[in-house]
Order: sequence, then structure tokens, then C-alpha cells
Amino acid sequence: MDEIGCRIHVLAIPFPLQGHLNPMLQLCKRLTSKGVRITLVTITSARISVQNQFESIQIEYILDDENIEAEGSNDSEKAAAFLKWIKIAVSDNLAKLVKEKASSGHPVNIVLYDSMMPWILEIVQGQLGLKGAAFFTQACAVSSIFDHIHRGTLKVPLETSTILLPSMPQLESNDLPSFVSNPGPYPGVLDVVLSQNINLEKSDWLLFNSFDKLENEVVTWLTERYPIKTIGPCTPSMYTDKRLKDDKDYTVNFFTPDSEACPKWLDTKETGSVVYVSFGSVSDLGENQMQEIAWGLLNSNFNFLWVVRPSEEGKIPRDLMSEAQERGLIVNWCPQIKVLSHRAVGCFMSHCGWNSTIEALSLGVPMVTMPVWVDQPTNSKYIVDVWKVGLRVKASEEREMVTREEVEGTIREVMHGEKASELRNNALRWKELAKEAISEGGSSDKHIEEFVSSLESI
Ligand code: UDX
Repeated sequence: MDEIGCRIHVLAIPFPLQGHLNPMLQLCKRLTSKGVRITLVTITSARISVQNQFESIQIEYILDDENIEAEGSNDSEKAAAFLKWIKIAVSDNLAKLVKEKASSGHPVNIVLYDSMMPWILEIVQGQLGLKGAAFFTQACAVSSIFDHIHRGTLKVPLETSTILLPSMPQLESNDLPSFVSNPGPYPGVLDVVLSQNINLEKSDWLLFNSFDKLENEVVTWLTERYPIKTIGPCTPSMYTDKRLKDDKDYTVNFFTPDSEACPKWLDTKETGSVVYVSFGSVSDLGENQMQEIAWGLLNSNFNFLWVVRPSEEGKIPRDLMSEAQERGLIVNWCPQIKVLSHRAVGCFMSHCGWNSTIEALSLGVPMVTMPVWVDQPTNSKYIVDVWKVGLRVKASEEREMVTREEVEGTIREVMHGEKASELRNNALRWKELAKEAISEGGSSDKHIEEFVSSLESI
């Protein structure tokens, strides 16, 4: 990209987790294709591998995460310690970075930041006199629920077992984000999540990794109140419009993907015969639950490719692979987007993180949903009842977990049951609509263009 082509310089600050960093980087790749220079600010980590082939994206590291994980004895404390570290690191370095960029002849025009860190906006607008764009890595529906809590139109703790919000389907309490339906186990986390609402009121731009047709009604409802723009799906271009020639994969991996074994194994399987299973980069299921999933997969008699992160390996039955033999493959991490696009994959059993959800929709893969926490129950509700591309496993009240019979039955239903072809056809329709949104002239492409031209006039 020549100097004239890079008149605008965006400083991008993603939340440094797999599910947040990559979608922002994908948006940055789109911006560079429209002539924008990017400096992406993140942490160094022994775990992270970065493969950045984009010349106009420069990565600056501001903190090593080696000491972060030592703090906190449970998930809630660890999350709090992590947030504290990020806040200190960004607050300490942002002004210095902006100054350095100005003296190197590339002054920063705006700061693009993850909506989970709304305090960045105060620094950007208050101390640096710059403008800020908030990037949301969650569904518009989820932001809308948080907005209702903020406005007092949805009371927490919940007063009724079903909730009817404008432009949304009727929600049961277990369709709501976990911090809303049951804030107890996560003291303080609901406050952090709700602090995102400041973005809606104060940020200069509001960008969502979603697309208009996917969340039509909620997007309309939000747009009447806030100047939001959907710019997704933020997945590698090769899997949608193919316009960014070098964009074949995500840039950052927090775990090392088993890039050779997975496609090789999938190549040996029949079309549509494999259940791909992953619960994302942070979920931590109990040992009993992992065992039930394992036996459910095995008893279903389908082939399965299961991502079990190193921290989870001790929870699966020792004899699972000897029982499964060539029917099963377990890896610590895989190139998920590549796996989902493989002809052998027949369905995706997922925790419904937003990235996994939008990847499955963009690649036309039906789902078995097993939401764990945060925004995942709401994503699951949309997958099952709005987009109609999947079925949810139900937890047994008696055993307080999802049983092997339920796992087996739901997989069978999605793979070959009465609804299977309807789910598959719907999934393929969303695949087309996702591609249309990000292709030239599509809604997300237009919104990215509008965003870039508004930057030219600041
Ligand atoms: C977190 C939250 O849990 C999620 O609810 C929120 O919406 C975003 O942040 P995570 O749990 O990691 O994310 O799930 P998800 O959003 O699905 O992101 C996982 C990412 O890791 C996806 O992009 C997926 O392609 C990638 N992945 C996962 C791999 O590349 N390989 C794997 O083996 C598993």
C-alpha cells in the first residue's frame, strides 16, 4: 500500500482473547483493503502465534501476559485480574503510542477498540482529543438485551420466567446471557458486561460483527436509537467473497492448531459423515459432563472430530479412543474455519460462542447447540428458533447436566432426523446471505465504505 493510499491511520485495540482479537483483525484487513493504515495493539504471550502477512497492519505489543494467569483462584477472580492488567497496560501506553505515531509521520486519526473496554473511550476522547469507534464481537441481540437492562425495561434479577422484548422472540430465562439469568456465580462480571452500554451512548461509531439480514429486526430496533453499523461476518475472505487475496486464515492462534492431521483425517471420511465438536477457547466443562459428551458421541456411531484443549484432556474417558478407533479424532486445537468448510463435516456441536456461530452460519453447517455461559444461551436461541439451523441439547434437571442419551439423540436428529434436511437447507441459505453481505455492494461492505469515508472527513 503506498503512502497516498494510507491517508487514514486507525489504532486498533482488541480485547486480547482468541474470540475477540481475530474478528477485530479481520475487520482491520477489510479496512486496509480500503486504503487504511492499521496499528494493532496487543499483548505478548508465549501462547500466541501471530501470522501477519498484511504490510499495512503493524502490530505493537504492550504487555507480556506471563504473570497474569498466576493471579486469582477461580474464573471470576482470574477474569478480574486479567481486566485489571489490560486496563493498566493500555492506560500506561496509549498516549505514548499515539505520540510516537505522530512523530513518525503517521498520526493516528481514530482509535478502534473492543466494546468490552469502554474506558478506552474516556482516554481517547478526554485525554487525547481523538475519536473512538467501538467494535462489538457479540450479536446485536445480546447488546440489545444489555441496553434494556441499562434502560430499566428489563429488570435483573428477573421478575418473570419468560421475557418479551421488542424485535426479539420470546425468551425463557435460560435463553438470556448467563450473567443476566444467574449473576450469582460471577460477582462483578455483570457490571463489566453492562458497562459496554456507555459505548452506545458516547462512542463516535458502533460496529458489529454481524450482518443486517441475520438480525434484521433487532438491527432496525437498535438503528432507530443508535448509529450502529453491521460489518460482518468477520471471517477470512477466502471463505466468503474471496476479494482479499491473502486472507486465507485467522492471523492469531492462542493454541497451536493441528493443521495437518485434521484435513488429512477428514479427507478419509464420507461427505457429511463427521460431527465436529468444539467448546471454544475458554469453556471449562466439568469432568462428568465431558464424560457424558464423550459417550454420547461414541454411541451416536457417527465419526467425530473433537477439540479438547490441553487443560481439558484429563476429563475425557481413557478408553474413548480405543473404543472409537478410526471413527474419532481428538486434537488440542484445529484450524476451525477450514474444518467447518470441509465436505466431510455434517454438523457442528458447539458452545455457541459468537465467532463459532457466525462461522457455522457463513459456511452453511447445521449445529447441535450446547451453550455454556455469557452470550452463548442467546446465540443458541437464535440458532434454533430464529435462523432454524440447529437443535439444543437439554440438561437433565435430575442430573444437572446433559446426558449421553441427549447428546446421542440430538446429534442423530441433526445429522439424519426428520428435520435434518430443513436445517441443512436453512444453513445453506445463511451461507449465501453472509457472502452477499460482505461482497461488493452488500450491506456490510457498504457500511465499511461509509465508515472509511467518514474517517476521511475528520
Ligand atoms: C469468547 C466467548 O466465550 C464467546 O461467548 C463470545 O461470543 C466471544 O468470546 P470463545 O469461547 O473462544 O469466545 O468462542 P468463539 O467466539 O466461538 O471463538 C472461538 C474462536 O476460536 C473461533 O474463531 C474459532 O474458529 C476458533 N477456534 C476454536 C479455532 O480456530 N480452533 C479450534 O480448535 C477451536
